[in-house]
Amino acid sequence: MANSTGSFGIKVPKRHGLFRQEGQGRNAPCAARAKRTEMGQLRSGHILGISQLDQDEISFILDTAVSMKEILERPIKKVPPLRGKTIVNLFFEPSTRTKLSFELAAKRLSADTVGISASTSSVVKGETLIDTARNIEAMKPDIIVMRHSMSGAPYLISRYVSASVINAGDGTNEHPSQALLDLLTVREHFGTLEGLNITIIGDIAHSRVAHSDILAFTKMGARVTVCGPATMIPPEPDVLGARVCLDLRDAVRDADVVMALRIQKERLGKLSPFPSEREYAREFGLSAALKTYLKKEAIIMHPGPINRGVEMSPEMADAVNSVILKQVTNGVAVRMALFALLLTEVQKEVTE
Ligand code: MLT
Repeated sequence: MANSTGSFGIKVPKRHGLFRQEGQGRNAPCAARAKRTEMGQLRSGHILGISQLDQDEISFILDTAVSMKEILERPIKKVPPLRGKTIVNLFFEPSTRTKLSFELAAKRLSADTVGISASTSSVVKGETLIDTARNIEAMKPDIIVMRHSMSGAPYLISRYVSASVINAGDGTNEHPSQALLDLLTVREHFGTLEGLNITIIGDIAHSRVAHSDILAFTKMGARVTVCGPATMIPPEPDVLGARVCLDLRDAVRDADVVMALRIQKERLGKLSPFPSEREYAREFGLSAALKTYLKKEAIIMHPGPINRGVEMSPEMADAVNSVILKQVTNGVAVRMALFALLLTEVQKEVTE
């Protein structure tokens, strides 16, 4: 794909399948978003889920993230395209990596950022989410990044604001930017996504990372296998087309990528889907004992935060084939790409 170098030295992919006219494509945009489409943007003005993106759009975001990564390797890691833009980070659930990553991504592109968390927002005083969103909107932000424990919350507010909304994780539903950074990390390592075997282990039922990753890897031509205690695997066909394998050794045997997930305790309530963490670790934890079943070239991933000794032993987390910290680095690049692609004028400025 041809690249062009814009005024900030950012190479962005040009003349892509994304540059569609209004009404084209499987998920044609609504009229309100048509302007963006004509400008050659992502078809939606929001990033709510991998389910809304097609293969072309995903490739476009990844290609743009590669250009953004180059900025992160410069001695001065800051460029001006988002100067004068305001990004509000609305995190109603705890986060270290994702929040910092969105914040750094915005700062690298010179945007102004402000953040509120659940405990400091008026939601604790009884304000509805829609009223909170409308009030934030009244202060004219350009992008609202939102994490919420309720599945669908970012979708809901996107109907009430004209700012772009990025879903930074909604309940058990989706975590699209995590899936995009996972794709970027795997593509960077293997040079392709097509035909790879991806095995995701753990709390598949409650993990939004699993849901977005299954959709994303499948859309890009990889095969996904999910593995975990039967009580943590949603009933078919809810596993989104992934193969289910309840035996860990069988599940990892052909895998190019082995990804462990954190048990989403905060979403389980009082229920315990397995007798003890010790038993979970023995049956489904990635440990050195599993190495003999893994392909030599297989890489180890985890979205973080890791519970060492539960889903993964320290030895596996820090192994030479672990790409967990690369995932974190790529997170900043992917989020920079999302910001740049959502803001039409910025995209225009860097491509012209
Ligand atoms: C998430 O927010 O879903 C995280 O990135 C993964 C986790 O919390 O286990």
